[in-house]
Amino acid sequence: MRINQNTVLQGKRVTLVPYTSAHVPRYHEWMKSEELQRLTASEPLSLAQEYEMQCSWQEDTDKCTFIVLDTDKWSRQRATEEECMVGDVNLFLTDSEDPTVGEIEIMIAEPNYRGRGFGKEATLIMMSYGMTHLGLTTFEAKIGLENETSIGMFKKIHFKEVGVNNIFKEVVLRMIVNEEERQWLLQQTSHVDEKNYSLMKLQTQICDS
Ligand SMILES: CC(C)(COP(=O)(O)OP(=O)(O)OC[C@H]1O[C@@H](n2cnc3c(N)ncnc32)[C@H](O)[C@@H]1OP(=O)(O)O)[C@@H](O)C(=O)NCCC(=O)NCCS
Repeated sequence: MRINQNTVLQGKRVTLVPYTSAHVPRYHEWMKSEELQRLTASEPLSLAQEYEMQCSWQEDTDKCTFIVLDTDKWSRQRATEEECMVGDVNLFLTDSEDPTVGEIEIMIAEPNYRGRGFGKEATLIMMSYGMTHLGLTTFEAKIGLENETSIGMFKKIHFKEVGVNNIFKEVVLRMIVNEEERQWLLQQTSHVDEKNYSLMKLQTQICDS
């Protein structure tokens, strides 16, 4: 999806930036991990396939993705963007008949960043973006039955279990954004600063030169 190609969403712990080719090498390294392949139900891809995948994330109208950066490292310590990458967060428009339904996926790939509130904040920011910019009103998450951390996190942010798929060994969780949930999501993400990605990169280049 191209709608977010120039969008930066800066939160307290995490900053979301569009997934570009510059992120692919590190992303590809992450996905060599068997643990991550199992937890995210992903197949390992070659580097060339990963580049193709990044293109499809950018072009396909039913997918929206952001790379999750460590805000502190990115904004204060002037590290490269690749060095600040900690994970990714995605939305898929899964129902061609109903464009208000989005399936959300989150991965905090760096183990030492887990359990520190990064996953929760990235998920809330993505949901708020999906609600305000993509018009989504129903969010779904499909999570492996054994992934207690992820199930626990989604339940903490108001998802309810709606079913279990015994074939894929996953639980389906859903959040319907009624007016109360809309206000809650807006309040949870009121600190988020939306910025222009190209402009920020330009400013960094000027400062560096
Ligand atoms: C699952 C994952 C996204 C969670 O992100 P995280 O940054 O580790 O989690 P957070 O620190 O943001 O914790 C989120 C909330 O879940 C809660 N939580 C964590 N583990 C829990 C558990 N086993 N049971 C209940 N709640 C749990 C935390 O208490 C926290 O809530 P709080 O802030 O109200 O205390 C992350 O661990 C991850 O990406 N793991 C590897 C890949 C993966 O499993 N992806 C999901 C595939 S569906």
